[in-house]
Amino acid sequence: MKIALGSDHAGLPLKKEIIEHLQNKGMEIKDFGTYTEASCDYPEFALKVAEEVTAQNYEFGILVCGTGIGISIAANKVPGIRAAVCGDTFSAHACRQHNNANILALGQRVVGVGLALDIVDIFLETEFEGDRHQRRIDKISEIEKKYCK
Ligand code: RB5
Repeated sequence: MKIALGSDHAGLPLKKEIIEHLQNKGMEIKDFGTYTEASCDYPEFALKVAEEVTAQNYEFGILVCGTGIGISIAANKVPGIRAAVCGDTFSAHACRQHNNANILALGQRVVGVGLALDIVDIFLETEFEGDRHQRRIDKISEIEKKYCK
Protein backbone atom coordinates (compact mmCIF):
# COMPACT_ATOMS: atom_id res chain seq x y z
CA MET A 1 0.00 0.00 0.00
CA LYS A 2 1.39 3.43 -1.00
CA ILE A 3 0.67 6.34 1.32
CA ALA A 4 1.34 10.07 0.73
CA LEU A 5 1.89 12.17 3.84
CA GLY A 6 1.97 15.88 4.50
CA SER A 7 1.79 18.30 7.40
CA ASP A 8 2.45 21.85 8.43
CA HIS A 9 4.88 22.74 11.24
CA ALA A 10 2.20 22.08 13.90
CA GLY A 11 1.69 18.55 12.64
CA LEU A 12 5.32 17.66 11.99
CA PRO A 13 6.08 15.64 15.16
CA LEU A 14 2.97 13.46 14.81
CA LYS A 15 3.64 12.98 11.09
CA LYS A 16 7.12 11.68 11.95
CA GLU A 17 5.60 9.15 14.37
CA ILE A 18 3.13 8.00 11.70
CA ILE A 19 5.89 7.64 9.11
CA GLU A 20 7.95 5.46 11.45
CA HIS A 21 4.86 3.38 12.28
CA LEU A 22 3.98 2.79 8.62
CA GLN A 23 7.57 2.03 7.62
CA ASN A 24 7.78 -0.55 10.41
CA LYS A 25 4.72 -2.19 8.82
CA GLY A 26 6.52 -2.32 5.47
CA MET A 27 4.36 0.28 3.76
CA GLU A 28 5.64 2.45 0.96
CA ILE A 29 5.35 6.08 2.01
CA LYS A 30 6.38 9.47 0.71
CA ASP A 31 6.52 12.63 2.78
CA PHE A 32 5.55 15.71 0.76
CA GLY A 33 6.62 18.14 3.53
CA THR A 34 6.91 20.24 5.51
CA TYR A 35 10.28 19.01 6.71
CA THR A 36 11.21 21.62 9.33
CA GLU A 37 9.60 23.30 12.32
CA ALA A 38 9.61 26.68 10.56
CA SER A 39 6.13 28.19 10.40
CA CYS A 40 4.43 27.40 7.09
CA ASP A 41 0.99 27.29 5.47
CA TYR A 42 -0.96 24.01 5.56
CA PRO A 43 -2.83 24.50 2.23
CA GLU A 44 0.44 23.97 0.34
CA PHE A 45 0.90 20.47 1.74
CA ALA A 46 -2.79 19.63 1.53
CA LEU A 47 -2.67 20.43 -2.20
CA LYS A 48 0.45 18.34 -2.86
CA VAL A 49 -0.94 15.25 -1.14
CA ALA A 50 -4.45 15.70 -2.58
CA GLU A 51 -3.06 15.92 -6.12
CA GLU A 52 -0.98 12.77 -5.62
CA VAL A 53 -4.05 10.89 -4.40
CA THR A 54 -6.35 12.04 -7.22
CA ALA A 55 -3.59 11.20 -9.73
CA GLN A 56 -3.72 7.68 -8.20
CA ASN A 57 0.01 7.75 -7.46
CA TYR A 58 -0.90 6.87 -3.87
CA GLU A 59 -3.86 4.89 -2.55
CA PHE A 60 -4.37 7.12 0.49
CA GLY A 61 -3.12 10.39 1.93
CA ILE A 62 -2.52 11.30 5.56
CA LEU A 63 -2.38 14.98 6.54
CA VAL A 64 -1.55 16.47 9.92
CA CYS A 65 -1.88 20.04 11.19
CA GLY A 66 -2.64 21.46 14.62
CA THR A 67 -6.30 20.46 14.54
CA GLY A 68 -6.61 18.49 11.29
CA ILE A 69 -9.29 20.96 10.31
CA GLY A 70 -7.52 23.52 8.13
CA ILE A 71 -5.55 20.94 6.21
CA SER A 72 -8.69 18.85 5.55
CA ILE A 73 -10.69 21.87 4.39
CA ALA A 74 -7.90 22.68 1.92
CA ALA A 75 -7.61 19.08 0.67
CA ASN A 76 -11.37 18.85 0.18
CA LYS A 77 -11.20 21.69 -2.39
CA VAL A 78 -9.53 19.27 -4.81
CA PRO A 79 -12.23 17.42 -6.81
CA GLY A 80 -12.29 13.72 -5.98
CA ILE A 81 -10.82 14.18 -2.52
CA ARG A 82 -12.80 13.04 0.50
CA ALA A 83 -10.68 14.05 3.47
CA ALA A 84 -11.96 13.14 6.92
CA VAL A 85 -10.75 14.60 10.20
CA CYS A 86 -10.76 11.83 12.80
CA GLY A 87 -10.24 12.17 16.52
CA ASP A 88 -11.61 8.74 17.41
CA THR A 89 -11.48 5.20 16.07
CA PHE A 90 -15.21 4.95 15.31
CA SER A 91 -14.94 7.87 12.87
CA ALA A 92 -11.84 6.32 11.29
CA HIS A 93 -13.83 3.16 10.63
CA ALA A 94 -16.99 4.93 9.45
CA CYS A 95 -15.29 7.40 7.14
CA ARG A 96 -13.84 4.48 5.17
CA GLN A 97 -16.89 2.22 5.31
CA HIS A 98 -19.49 4.89 4.49
CA ASN A 99 -17.67 7.84 2.93
CA ASN A 100 -14.83 6.08 1.09
CA ALA A 101 -12.51 8.74 2.52
CA ASN A 102 -9.23 8.84 0.64
CA ILE A 103 -7.39 11.22 2.98
CA LEU A 104 -7.17 10.97 6.76
CA ALA A 105 -6.59 14.26 8.57
CA LEU A 106 -5.31 14.35 12.14
CA GLY A 107 -4.77 17.10 14.69
CA GLN A 108 -1.46 16.95 16.52
CA ARG A 109 -2.92 19.22 19.22
CA VAL A 110 -6.04 17.04 19.55
CA VAL A 111 -5.00 13.39 19.67
CA GLY A 112 -2.12 11.65 21.44
CA VAL A 113 0.30 9.51 19.49
CA GLY A 114 -1.20 6.17 20.63
CA LEU A 115 -4.71 7.08 19.56
CA ALA A 116 -3.47 8.63 16.31
CA LEU A 117 -1.68 5.42 15.33
CA ASP A 118 -4.79 3.34 16.11
CA ILE A 119 -6.83 5.73 13.95
CA VAL A 120 -4.30 5.37 11.12
CA ASP A 121 -4.39 1.56 11.29
CA ILE A 122 -8.19 1.39 11.29
CA PHE A 123 -8.43 3.92 8.46
CA LEU A 124 -6.04 1.93 6.27
CA GLU A 125 -7.55 -1.48 7.10
CA THR A 126 -11.25 -0.68 6.63
CA GLU A 127 -12.93 -1.30 3.27
CA PHE A 128 -15.59 0.87 1.64
CA GLU A 129 -19.03 -0.78 1.77
CA GLY A 130 -20.34 0.65 -1.51
CA ASP A 131 -24.04 0.14 -2.29
CA ARG A 132 -26.18 2.98 -0.87
CA HIS A 133 -23.03 4.77 0.25
CA GLN A 134 -21.80 4.92 -3.36
CA ARG A 135 -25.06 6.62 -4.35
CA ARG A 136 -24.37 9.33 -1.77
CA ILE A 137 -20.80 9.78 -2.91
CA ASP A 138 -22.07 10.12 -6.48
CA LYS A 139 -24.22 13.00 -5.23
CA ILE A 140 -21.13 14.64 -3.72
CA SER A 141 -19.48 14.32 -7.14
CA GLU A 142 -22.48 16.07 -8.67
CA ILE A 143 -21.94 19.00 -6.29
CA GLU A 144 -18.30 19.15 -7.38
CA LYS A 145 -19.33 19.18 -11.04
CA LYS A 146 -21.77 22.01 -10.36
CA TYR A 147 -19.35 24.28 -8.49
CA CYS A 148 -15.78 23.27 -9.42
CA LYS A 149 -15.30 24.83 -12.85
C1 RB5 B 1 -1.11 26.45 12.90
O1 RB5 B 1 -0.88 27.25 14.00
C2 RB5 B 1 -2.55 25.94 12.93
O2 RB5 B 1 -3.42 26.99 12.71
C3 RB5 B 1 -2.75 24.85 11.90
O3 RB5 B 1 -1.86 23.82 12.12
C4 RB5 B 1 -4.11 24.17 11.88
O4 RB5 B 1 -4.50 23.78 13.15
C5 RB5 B 1 -5.19 24.88 11.17
O5 RB5 B 1 -6.31 24.36 10.99
